Amino acid sequence: MLQSERPALARRPLDYIDTQSTAMAAELYRQPVSEYTSPTIAAREQEALFRSLPLCIGLSGMLPTAGSYFTHDHTGLPLLLTRDDDGEVHALMNVCRHRGARLVDGCGEARMLRCPYHAWAYAHDGRLAARPADEAFEGMPRTTHGLRRLAVEERDGLLWIMPRLGAPLALERHLGAVGEQIASFGLAGFHHFATRVLARRMNWKLALDTFLESYHFCVLHRNSICNTFYDNLGAFDTWGPHFRLVSPRKTLAEARDTSAPGWSLLPHVVGIYVLFPNTVLVWQLDHLELFHIYPGPTPDESITTISVYIPEPPRSESARAHWQRNFDIVVGVVEREDFPVGEGIQRSFHSGAQDHIVFGRNEPALGYFHRAVSDAVAG
Ligand code: FES
Ligand SMILES: [Fe+2]
Repeated sequence: MLQSERPALARRPLDYIDTQSTAMAAELYRQPVSEYTSPTIAAREQEALFRSLPLCIGLSGMLPTAGSYFTHDHTGLPLLLTRDDDGEVHALMNVCRHRGARLVDGCGEARMLRCPYHAWAYAHDGRLAARPADEAFEGMPRTTHGLRRLAVEERDGLLWIMPRLGAPLALERHLGAVGEQIASFGLAGFHHFATRVLARRMNWKLALDTFLESYHFCVLHRNSICNTFYDNLGAFDTWGPHFRLVSPRKTLAEARDTSAPGWSLLPHVVGIYVLFPNTVLVWQLDHLELFHIYPGPTPDESITTISVYIPEPPRSESARAHWQRNFDIVVGVVEREDFPVGEGIQRSFHSGAQDHIVFGRNEPALGYFHRAVSDAVAG
């Protein structure tokens, strides 16, 4: 959230609190059930969204030091992200150029990336630095057998890849004006605290729909986040296919004097940004929750990663316990409250009970998101 927009941004939820209203779409949105079940639509989305658009795959804190790396397989490509000695980030295929073995697993720090099969050794920029019995490969120079690379960019603390070999990463064009919104959070120095991966039997868009309205806060979450946030109430803003929901915490009503010295909006709201197509960035008080949602092998399956990033590494046991509690809360709400409902919905889609579902005018982000998906798929 830009410093300059914060006073005006505070007034909108305050008005909604006073008038018991919320941001409204111009009309109802009827969403065909087939959008969540059709293999044809899933294949088109895979091509148009998950092979043709830049994808955010984490914060810079995933690669905290020179020599650090992590693997990433959720796009369907075996990716290996690294940071070299000059601090530059690389996105490589985690596939050895000798006979195709997977080079590394998980995350860590290494001086060299060494294949576990015959020990071909790669530098962090993908160069093939050494191979045993080099003379046996005469005529096949090491210079032409580095790891295959994908376009990658590190910007304002976020890591972006282009999930297709040989395709350029047009990040500036993809982000447009939401770029300065992301920059305003100053995420470059943030520390990766933890990540949880949830594979569930629900379409990836259904998993994402979970984050797009507060209408359900005091019904489904009556014993958890209902205590903290106003329900069915929030501001909605868009930048191209990207958008933001700002939901006020209950503290906003008391802290409504926005002209008081040192007044800040951030402690009194949660800011939910959807970076199209599949990243949900949630600003919570003083830390960041980052969700990435990927299609699974069938339209009925998806993978959601939930990560918490914090301003600095925990300096004490009590700090670590504090962030662990935060992490457990967010995972718990999604895993025990939101996603079981989503899996039930996915099953219901195969019952023939209805051919469309409906998004109310009080759920403007849902219609906006699904229209953006349809537009992108239609080209
Ligand atoms: S497959 Fe990697 S060194 Fe042989
Ligand atoms: Fe929810």
